[in-house]
This record gives sequence, C-alpha cells and structure tokens, in this order.
Amino acid sequence: MSKTSIAFFEITNAEKKYLKKKFDKNFELFFYEEELNEINSHLVSNVNVISPFIYSNINSKVLDKAKKLKLIATRSTGFNHIDIKKAEKIKVSVANVPYYGENTVAEHTFALILALSRNIHKAYVRTTRNDFALQGLQGFDLKGKTLGVIGAGSIGVHVIRIAKGFGMKVIAFDPNPNHILTDMLDFNYVSLEKLLKNSDIISMHCPYNQHTHHLLNMSNINIVKKGALFINTARSGVIEPQALYYAIDNNIFSGAGLDVFEGEDLVKEENQMLTKNVSVEHLEVLLKRNILLRRENVILTPHMAFDSVEAVERIMDTTVENIFNFLEEKDYHKVI
Ligand code: NAI
Repeated sequence: MSKTSIAFFEITNAEKKYLKKKFDKNFELFFYEEELNEINSHLVSNVNVISPFIYSNINSKVLDKAKKLKLIATRSTGFNHIDIKKAEKIKVSVANVPYYGENTVAEHTFALILALSRNIHKAYVRTTRNDFALQGLQGFDLKGKTLGVIGAGSIGVHVIRIAKGFGMKVIAFDPNPNHILTDMLDFNYVSLEKLLKNSDIISMHCPYNQHTHHLLNMSNINIVKKGALFINTARSGVIEPQALYYAIDNNIFSGAGLDVFEGEDLVKEENQMLTKNVSVEHLEVLLKRNILLRRENVILTPHMAFDSVEAVERIMDTTVENIFNFLEEKDYHKVI
C-alpha cells in the first residue's frame, strides 16, 4: 500500500516534533517553515494532504500544481487563504479548526485592556530605565465601567464573562442576539449607536466581511464616548483607518490596544523593503503604523491573540483528527 504524503507549511520545530509522534510509518511527512504560494508550489506536486496556516496563499495556480491532492487541512478557523471554489471544482476537500481559542483571544483582549487601564506598558519601559516615579502612571478601575462588545459570538461571550468578573457593566451589539445569554451573563443588546455613545471600552469581536467592513468609520466615530478605550483583536478592516487615526489624534479614543492593524501583513516584508519595489501606498501604511507605535497610549501586538500553548495544542490536535477522520471517511470539520 502506498504511503499517504502530507506537507505541513509554516511549521515551527515544536509543532514538527508533535506531528512526528502522531503519524506512523504509513505516512510520509514533509515540513516547511515557509508559507506555500505560487513560487514554491512544486513542493506539493506529489502530496495527498496539505496543511497550511493563514499566511500561505493556496490559489488556483498552486492547486493546479497539486495533482495528487485530496485534502487541505488548514490549521486555522479562517480559510480565505484558500481558493475554495477551485478546490471544490477539482474535488479537493478542505478542513478547518472551528474552535480552539475563544478564551485565549478573550484573555489577550483583557491583557490589552489592563495594560492600557493601568499603564503597565509605560511603567515597564520606565522601570527598565531605573525610573520608579509614579507620575503619569495613574490608571482607572474597570469595576463599574461599561464595556461595549461588538460581536457577541464565541470570543465576545468569553470577553463578557471576564468583564463580569471585574464588576463591569456590559452592552453588546450583534445582529444575531441570543437572549438566553443576556439572562445568564447579565448584559444587554443595544444598537451600534447606543454602544458607541455609552461604552468606556469598545472591543471588536465580529467577523470581517462586507457588512463589517469599516463598521466604525468617519461618519460614526464622533458619537463615540469621548476618551473611550478601543480594543481590536478581530480584523483591522472593521474600523476605517482614517477614523482610527482621527479618534486617537483627537482623544476620542484615549487609548487603543490593537492585535490587528492596517498593514500587519506588510510587517513581515519590511526587512526586504530596501531592495524591493514598494508602492507609495505601502510606505504610507508603514509610516502611519510607525507613528502609532510611538504613541504612549497605543499598544500594538503582532496578531498573537490566538497564540497560547493550549490553543496551539488544540489547533494541532484538531488538525491531526481532521486528517485521520478524512482518510477513514469519518466526520471531520469540513469546509467543503
Ligand atoms: P463567532 O462567529 O463565534 O462570533 C462572531 C459574532 O459576530 C457572531 O455572534 C455574529 O452574529 C457577530 N456579527 C456578525 N456580523 C456582525 C456585525 N455586522 N456587527 C456586529 N456583530 C456581528 O466568531 P469568533 O470565534 O467569536 O471570532 C470573532 C473574530 O475574531 C473572527 O472572525 C476573527 O476575525 C477574530 N479572531 C482573531 C484572532 C486573533 O488572533 N487576533 C483569533 C481568532 C479569531
């Protein structure tokens, strides 16, 4: 019997070690640190399964090269890095990892909120310089403050639960309300306008799609309660960049904690920018990001909200399960 060959992309050493233990000699495994894209698509010409993370670009041209491919098992919830229509057309199945880090992303959300509310980032920088003065470091309590959650789904609900532990009031905007949750967790659904007007902290947890593209924008940014904190661990496109910069510049947002931000994908390429042709638009985005980085009331993290030991283990477990179940014709987390 021929071996099933699996190519894993964007793999760390720890993940490689873990995966090697899970597959026996009936499998031929290939591990690549790099992303899969058109340039290295020859790497998948003979494999039966591809397992990428979100930075691979599995487009039609890559899929054309993968003549023996049966399954793409992405190690992520999102699958917009895969040409699903093309995969369907050439009868390649796609599996994903729908749940792995609701609490993980919610905990990171609070890491950003607390860093800003208690000026932890500023204190850290100062004390590394042997400056232990309290001046300018006074924070504010979360107890009694109003948290506005935009998108009360899996992650948003965990955020609400944690907020309740701090004694916060919570309001949420979600076009698909779940009223059992409001009783259980003691929060209210409100309109987007009411949420923006009344929240001391606004936290984004909706998906990014055509309905949420620039959900916060130059037309509604001025109704935000003056001095609110803005936290975004969802996707950068849910707020219009101009509105974000305007709100920070004009103290509409007294602070921002951003795990996702305009141009985050460019950051990876930045080291090669001196030798590459870079568009003016890209340079502008990078310049703005660098200005944001210099603001004391802005914290950027590199899209790491999902990245805890436990969440990554859950991603790996589900991916392995998806591959075995697909091969054994059992149920798996099927996208198509
Ligand atoms: P989910 O699908 O469980 O919840 C999303 C919620 O948003 C749903 O309740 C939905 O009804 C609501 N929603 C849909 N359209 C909306 C709109 N127009 N306005 C307000 N709410 C709307 O998704 P989950 O698992 O909670 O994830 C939320 C988002 O978090 C993901 O779409 C993803 O972009 C982001 N995420 C970020 C990670 C990171 O590492 N920074 C990791 C994982 C997810």
